[in-house]
Amino acid sequence: MTRGHASLLVQAVDAVFADAGGASIHALQQVSAEFLPGQLSVIVGPSGSGKSTLLHALAGIVVPQHGLISFGATVVNQLDESRRDAWRLAHCGLVFQEFRLIDELDALGNVLLPAQFQQARIPALLRARALELLERFDVPQRAGPVAKMSRGEQQRVALARALLLDPPLILADEPTASLDADNGQRIAAALKALAQSGKTVITVTHDDKLVARADSLLRMQAGQVLPSIAGSPT
Ligand SMILES: Nc1ncnc2c1ncn2[C@@H]1O[C@H](COP(=O)(O)OP(=O)(O)OP(=O)(O)O)[C@@H](O)[C@H]1O
Ligand SMILES: [Mg+2]
Repeated sequence: MTRGHASLLVQAVDAVFADAGGASIHALQQVSAEFLPGQLSVIVGPSGSGKSTLLHALAGIVVPQHGLISFGATVVNQLDESRRDAWRLAHCGLVFQEFRLIDELDALGNVLLPAQFQQARIPALLRARALELLERFDVPQRAGPVAKMSRGEQQRVALARALLLDPPLILADEPTASLDADNGQRIAAALKALAQSGKTVITVTHDDKLVARADSLLRMQAGQVLPSIAGSPT
C-alpha cells in the first residue's frame, strides 16, 4: 500500500442509492477527477449535488457501483470491507460534515480514538501530539463530554482527530461551516499548509476563505462534475 504522497484518481464513478420507496437516487454519475498531492482541492456545488457522497467514496465508505478510485497503486473500491477499513485508518484523515464524535468522550478521548483502533496502549508521544493539535485549533482544555461543547469546538475536535495519525490524505467535509471568522481563517490556513507540505487535501466547502486558497476547484451539480471554467483554478 502507498503510505507516502500520492494522487487520488477517480475514474467514471457511479454511486446509486435507493430511497425509502426503492427508487434509485443517482448521487454520482460518471464522476472523474484527479486530486494531486501538494494541492488543496476544493469541491463546491449546491446542496444534494453529491459532494459528501464523493468524499465518502474517496474514503472507501461508499462503494461505487461502477468506476475506479485509486490512491497510488491501491484501487480502493476493489478492496474488501476489512481491507478498506485498514486502508482508511492508515491513509485518510476524515472530517465528517456531522463530525461523528463520540458524545460521551471528552475532546482528548475523541482525538485519540483512531489510535485506539491501532494499539491498545497509547504512546506518550501520540498523546502529546493530540494535546498539541487541540491547542493548535484552540479547543479549550476542559474535562467533560464533547456533547457539551459548542458546535465550533466540536468541529475543531473533529479536525484534530483527523490529523492525529499524520495521514497522507485529508478529506474534510465543510470543515469551517460552524466556525467564526478567526477560527475559519486558522483552519483554512492549516489545510493549505498541510497541502503545501505534500499531502493530498480535499475539502468540500461553501466557504470563500477555503475557495480563495484552492489550487484546484471541482464544481458539482446533480451528481456530475461540471467542466472547469477558464481562468479559475482547475
Ligand atoms: N445513504 C444514502 N441513502 C440514500 N440517499 C442518499 C444517501 N446519501 C446521500 N443520498 C442522496 O444522494 C444525494 C447527494 O447527497 P450528498 O449528501 O452527497 O449531497 P451534498 O452535496 O453533500 O449536499 P449538502 O451540501 O446538503 O451536504 C442526495 O439526493 C441525497 O439525498
Ligand atoms: Mg454534504
